[in-house]
Amino acid sequence: MIYTNELLPGYEWNAMVACLVERMSKEKHLLPQKPEDLIAQLENDRSVVAIENGQIVGHATLWPIAHNWYETGSTFVCPSNREKKINITMYHILLAHHQEKNILATTTNAVSLHIGKKLGFITVKRNSLPEEALVGTCICSRKKTGSDNALTSCRLAWSGDNWNPIEDEWELPCHVRVVPETFKRHPDMVRIQNYIPEKIAV
Ligand SMILES: CC(C)(COP(=O)(O)OP(=O)(O)OC[C@H]1O[C@@H](n2cnc3c(N)ncnc32)[C@H](O)[C@@H]1OP(=O)(O)O)[C@@H](O)C(=O)NCCC(=O)NCCS
Repeated sequence: MIYTNELLPGYEWNAMVACLVERMSKEKHLLPQKPEDLIAQLENDRSVVAIENGQIVGHATLWPIAHNWYETGSTFVCPSNREKKINITMYHILLAHHQEKNILATTTNAVSLHIGKKLGFITVKRNSLPEEALVGTCICSRKKTGSDNALTSCRLAWSGDNWNPIEDEWELPCHVRVVPETFKRHPDMVRIQNYIPEKIAV
């Protein structure tokens, strides 16, 4: 397995990324992406991919969402390569390389919550994030969040003027986490007790 954060010579990157995008499009937890955008992320040193036999079998990237704020995204490992620590390895590389950046992660995926916990991600109250970072995070569809209720779905908690108080953010389908370095740089950020379901529901 080769892990890289650059467009190494000798590979058919356009074809490999097109194939990756096609595979990713079948995943319910992932937002659709264009091959040219994933290539641009690699060119801008924001991604790590895992390559095996000339195919991208793992991908993780940091999408810019606000000034010096990034969101992890398009995290994918091919089904036949899962549970071999490929994702966790990609994240170790990616996060070690970008310690100066503020990085958050949003997810509705219990496996990602589990992996985030292993990586030391800290769940934070969304209204303790800088507003510019929060409004830049990925916009989940109602279908994805599973809720039509403004107070229980991810983005609709935003009223347009204020963030509405939410009793227990763990009831939201989407959890917002930041990496430890980001948490240390933001003393006002409010931690939520990390709770990971005993049983990982995929
Ligand atoms: C989420 C995903 C990237 C994980 O990739 P992966 O390479 O299989 O993950 P890793 O092997 O690095 O897993 C690390 C940990 O998660 C656990 N894990 C991974 N997949 C799991 C599963 N399906 N069920 C239970 N645990 C799982 C591993 O057991 C390991 O835990 P451990 O260290 O406590 O033993 C992969 O399942 C995937 O591509 N899913 C579809 C796309 C997606 O949902 N992306 C995330 C969007 S937020």
